[in-house]
Amino acid sequence: MKTLVIVSHPYFSQSTAIKSLQNAALDSENVTVRNLESLYGDDIGSIDVAAEQNAYIGMDRIVFMFPIHWFNLTPILKAYLNQVWTYGWAFGPEGKALVGKEMLVVTTAGATEHTYSPAGIVQSTMEEVLTPMKASALYVGMSYAKPLYFYEAMGATPETLADFNAHLMARLN
Ligand SMILES: Cc1cc2nc3c(=O)[nH]c(=O)nc-3n(C[C@H](O)[C@H](O)[C@H](O)COP(=O)(O)O)c2cc1C
Repeated sequence: MKTLVIVSHPYFSQSTAIKSLQNAALDSENVTVRNLESLYGDDIGSIDVAAEQNAYIGMDRIVFMFPIHWFNLTPILKAYLNQVWTYGWAFGPEGKALVGKEMLVVTTAGATEHTYSPAGIVQSTMEEVLTPMKASALYVGMSYAKPLYFYEAMGATPETLADFNAHLMARLN
């Protein structure tokens, strides 16, 4: 199974968790990693749509890896979906490029698991927070794998990061 990993973190130099997960992905076999901020900085106008679309060729699984910031996607990841998942490519009568591929969301959150429970302060589960990704996957004919999310990821210890990485590797291999 060939996997394309799209990573986004707007403050990558300050990242611990996503950086560690990206490194684990880079160490995995049959995995191609594209870090959007490494490629484009925060300039959403410079996204190379053709290159991004070509990156899907021959891929079976697409991983989106990003931190939860304000219960949402990162800015460039949203811009990426807007620009790369185009009519006629991802959807519409001729838009079949993503049909049959699997989407796996891998995300990190600062808050606790309790926060993301019906009894928690945000009264929303992580599954609910990730609804736009699930809906987008299903809209373009992808299957939506059970997402992988890591709570309390802010200032994670080396042991915790190793645990995060092991969970990711188990899903990628
Ligand atoms: C601007 C900003 C907004 C954040 N918003 C959320 C949030 O809505 N929910 C949450 O659980 N954590 C939130 N966090 C915490 C991050 O999710 C957490 O620090 C990150 O996932 C850890 O990964 P990293 O080490 O790669 O940055 C936020 C952090 C920042 C900087």
